[in-house]
Amino acid sequence: MNGMLPLETLTICPMISDTLSEVTTLLLLLLLLLLLFTACSRTNCSHIPGPSFLAGLGPILSYSRFIWTGIGTACNYYNNKYGSIVRVWINGEETVILSRSSAVYHVLRSVHYTARFGSKTGLECIGMEGRGIIFNSDVLLWKKVRTYFSKALTGPGLQRTVGICVSSTAKHLDRLHEITKPSGHVDSLNLLRAVVVDISNRLFLRVPLNEKDLLMKIQSYFETWQTVLIKPDIFFKIGWLYNKHKRAAQELQDAMESLLEIKRKIINESEKLDDDLDFATELIFAQNLGELSGDNVRQCVLEMVIAAPDTLSISLFFMLMLLKQYPDVELRIVEEMNSVLSKHCAKGAENIDYQRLKVLESFINESLRFHPVVDFTMRKALEDDTIEGIKITKGTNIILNIGLMHKTEFFPKPKEFSLMNFDKTVPSRFFQPFGCGPRSCVGKQIAMVMMKAILVTLLSRYTVCPRQGYTLNSIRQTNNLSQQPVEDENSLAMRFIPRTAQPSHSQH
Ligand code: HEM
Ligand SMILES: *[C@@H]1O[C@H](CO)[C@@H](O)[C@H](O)[C@H]1NC(C)=O
Ligand SMILES: *[C@@H]1O[C@H](CO)[C@@H](O)[C@H](O)[C@H]1NC(C)=O
Ligand SMILES: *[C@@H]1O[C@H](CO)[C@@H](O)[C@H](O)[C@H]1NC(C)=O
Ligand SMILES: *[C@@H]1O[C@H](CO)[C@@H](O)[C@H](O)[C@H]1NC(C)=O
Repeated sequence: MNGMLPLETLTICPMISDTLSEVTTLLLLLLLLLLLFTACSRTNCSHIPGPSFLAGLGPILSYSRFIWTGIGTACNYYNNKYGSIVRVWINGEETVILSRSSAVYHVLRSVHYTARFGSKTGLECIGMEGRGIIFNSDVLLWKKVRTYFSKALTGPGLQRTVGICVSSTAKHLDRLHEITKPSGHVDSLNLLRAVVVDISNRLFLRVPLNEKDLLMKIQSYFETWQTVLIKPDIFFKIGWLYNKHKRAAQELQDAMESLLEIKRKIINESEKLDDDLDFATELIFAQNLGELSGDNVRQCVLEMVIAAPDTLSISLFFMLMLLKQYPDVELRIVEEMNSVLSKHCAKGAENIDYQRLKVLESFINESLRFHPVVDFTMRKALEDDTIEGIKITKGTNIILNIGLMHKTEFFPKPKEFSLMNFDKTVPSRFFQPFGCGPRSCVGKQIAMVMMKAILVTLLSRYTVCPRQGYTLNSIRQTNNLSQQPVEDENSLAMRFIPRTAQPSHSQH
């Protein structure tokens, strides 16, 4: 924290510079889009519902909405206003937002949409342009890199996961008193982040690290990512707007490089390596063989380390909030857990048969449906195509509004939180929290295992209690690149109340 002070003092007055930045961005945006006006007017935009072109004003207004309200909020606005297939403009580029399951499913499973879109300069800033996996649109390189992720996230890697999740969660819970405030509250989201970053390190990197310091850098990196992803090129030319973001991205990349240096030493000094090599080791070997560049290896490890803290920890936070709002659901989960635990005479969460925890799985599914972290995903059409009779030209940006899809089709109580929504088997095209097909979440299986193991360990020891009056509906949230709580002290605070010997009777 201290090390960051000199940088912070450079911005004289954050309030003023923020307002200025918005005004400047708007003006520059206007200019840029007027220049793009001729380019866009030549394309055939008329056959898909959406805001009208209005001599170039349409693109400016829709782009402004994306920048001002956040990508997720803007998508929901347009789908609600114009229907489940909408055409808008982002940075002058035609962008189609889909929330109808048949259209979404078509894109997910097709090989013609395996790229993503975003500002090239912005992606370069965060090291994702033509590198790593998440926003890498160099399809050949992305394919190669994805095999390393798949290998680490499925098969033998998956086997070790439960044990590591249980022990890491237990370790952090044992030290709960260290992070408990005098009021008795714990910053639950940051506790969950610490747990998952520790798990990710133990699974994929295995280097001693300072959790707190790394988490701060991961959060700043995520903020930069949100900020730069769809900004106009002009944004990157304005030093006082851009430099602090550039620096935040660089800090995490530097931290990763140092961790990799340590890892290389460890590998070099160990006599014999395990049979199943971890993710970082595999990548370092690939680099040594000239298969992958050093920059790419660093970016892959970075993305593997941020993936869970950016998504899974926030999902778990939402789940803990929901449990308190629906105590009958918590009761059912705990009862199921106890019965499975006792039937199998196991000593702890490590040996549970997770297949049998059907109530827990329905709860996780319903939470991901009702209040997702990842509300949409961004793709790019690599070929001309037709979706539901609508022509999609090569190069069109695509946004799959999966969050809205989950609330408008199939489910018996689409707008409510209810486990009834998963009473019947849900056909896969109606429920896609991780996507499917070639560019789906490569961590989808491990994410489910991790959420179950962490929840079982946590809920068998504690029941949590957010501050009075704080519910998922009342806490402030943003839906920008993903849906997240605004990090104020009160909304993240929870008391962790130990369960008594008979967990199912310890309701408060
Ligand atoms: C609750 C937790 C998670 C959710 C809801 C989630 C959801 C998603 C979604 C919706 C996508 C985009 C898929 C698409 O475009 O079709 C994605 C991509 C991805 N996820 Fe996850 N994810 C989660 C956890 C994780 C974890 C734990 C990891 C790894 C440790 C991970 C690694 C990735 C990667 C690498 C990609 C990019 C894949 C590619 O572009 O090829 N995710 N995730
Ligand atoms: C625009 O698209 C419509 C429907 O696909 C088509 O009938 C029309 O000819 C196209 N116009 C131009 C100028 O390409
Ligand atoms: C989107 O994210 C950026 C970076 O975190 C933030 O500065 C901006 O205020 C966010 N926009 C909204 C509408 O929340
Ligand atoms: C690995 O060790 C050898 C000597 O055992 C040394 O020459 C080499 O520089 C080391 N490489 C790294 C990356 O530390
Ligand atoms: C939960 O969702 C997954 C798809 O992500 C599905 O395969 C599974 O059957 C669902 N579980 C329950 C209990 O509905």
